[in-house]
Amino acid sequence: MEWWKEGVFYQIYPRSFKDSNSDGVGDLNGIKEKLDYFNWLGIDALWICPFFKSPMVDFGYDISDYDAVDPIFGDIEDFKDLLENAHKKHIRIVIDQVYNHTSDQHPWFIESKSSRNNPKSDWYIWKDPKPDGNPPTNWISLFSGEKEESAWTWDENRKQYYLHLFAKEQPDLNWQNENVRKAVYDSMRFWLDLGVDGFRFDAASHFYKNLERDLIKGPQIKKSLFESSRDNCYWDPFTARPETLIEIEKIRKFMDSYQDRASIGEISSDMGLYLYLMFTIPGRFNIAFNIDFLENLSFNASNLRNLVSTLDYFFGSRAWPSYVTGNHDNRRILSRMTDGMNVDIEYKKKISKLFATMLLTLRGTPFIYYGEEIGMEDTYIPRDKIMDPWGKSLWPKPGRDPSRTPMQWDSSKYAGFSNVEPWLPINENKSEINVKAEMEDPNSILHFYKKLIHERKTHEPLKSGTMQFLNIDDDILAYKRESDYAITVILNFSDKIKVLDKNLKGQIILSNYARSDKYGEQFEIRPFESMIIKNDHR
Ligand code: NOJ
Repeated sequence: MEWWKEGVFYQIYPRSFKDSNSDGVGDLNGIKEKLDYFNWLGIDALWICPFFKSPMVDFGYDISDYDAVDPIFGDIEDFKDLLENAHKKHIRIVIDQVYNHTSDQHPWFIESKSSRNNPKSDWYIWKDPKPDGNPPTNWISLFSGEKEESAWTWDENRKQYYLHLFAKEQPDLNWQNENVRKAVYDSMRFWLDLGVDGFRFDAASHFYKNLERDLIKGPQIKKSLFESSRDNCYWDPFTARPETLIEIEKIRKFMDSYQDRASIGEISSDMGLYLYLMFTIPGRFNIAFNIDFLENLSFNASNLRNLVSTLDYFFGSRAWPSYVTGNHDNRRILSRMTDGMNVDIEYKKKISKLFATMLLTLRGTPFIYYGEEIGMEDTYIPRDKIMDPWGKSLWPKPGRDPSRTPMQWDSSKYAGFSNVEPWLPINENKSEINVKAEMEDPNSILHFYKKLIHERKTHEPLKSGTMQFLNIDDDILAYKRESDYAITVILNFSDKIKVLDKNLKGQIILSNYARSDKYGEQFEIRPFESMIIKNDHR
């Protein structure tokens, strides 16, 4: 099985992982300090969010030099050192490249906007206004919140608009231009030659655009597949263009000219599952980062079954799914799932372990977002401390800062993340929720993750086995993973004890409750319990 299929990924938001040089911001050497931690936990690969040179308007997703490390994170030697040390410890590193757009401070953009006829004038998407002076299309910036601001910004110098699907400081590259493509491939080559194990391609579904079309609001096509809270969706002319799909095939070919590299696409739009498949059928990306799963997660076994079974059926043998319960763009899973629930800390821990069991036993590559393994929760960010550009326009709704706060290593003032005040506040629960305390407690969430990862590695059915859903109870999500033997996973999403009367005899290899290892014909599953059972029979 390919490493990116069977491995467990861990996502690092480098600003918040570990600060090694006391400036309040995490860095590459900080990550290097923690490599033994990943070995201890059983992590196979890291996905590190952008650490390239950037004015940090979108905290690294606005790059001003694709091939340089931003001084706040270290330098290229630090990266080489990190990579070499990680490889020695059998940990792979996937980097996050942002080839849909650059920073407005990138020398390419500065040159491009200097006139209408400089050599890079066509490296970005410049357009004349409509006859009435309005922007060329009605596209709205994906960061504009409810204000629905235009994705076009007027430039006085060129007397033209430029396109930015995200913030105005993130102008979109013009992929139609051969020289742009060449520059992007040069950058990929630079990092692949250094030895990185792959890329997470940011906003990869948007590389090419159809500039002739407006955005229209359409019906929610996902309704039939998933329960979703949105009533309608945007049909946009900048997602999954045929040219983009063709380009992805070229990128894949290019990456296959190196050995064993993984391509992971950040694919997003209202088209949901169809889009993931489009981008991950053979010859395209290895994996699409499954944001749909993350966004549609709910505390409801039937909904989850609907979600996962549709996904698994859809992917089938066509493509390889991924699973993700949190990332730097969304709220933390534990906070989302326990919102409005009256549960004490012990139940919260059970719930965290319940979702972890699901994440690490489904058929697909699991991604763990940093801090999930200790049960980190959203942190309240007062208005004057909001950093996220999107968060600023979303206020008073919370933006993305609450799930980006410093990793909680211990209970000290700055949680062992830094010696000085960090760039974002530390969660008040750090005295209890931290790596040090949880390492010392064999029943902690952290130890549970370690055991889960271990079981996943030990039992082939959990990696490559088929997945078949079992009808047990509306509150229970249960599935059997099967290869040369069978493993059953039973997850109780209710606070009730349920009697299970099934012929599932076997050994309980992991539960979030203390359990003896065998049970009889009748047994019960406790509130929010998760169980992994090695079946006696297939
Ligand atoms: C997706 C990234 O995950 C997000 O953090 C970023 O703001 C946008 N792409 C723009 O690059």
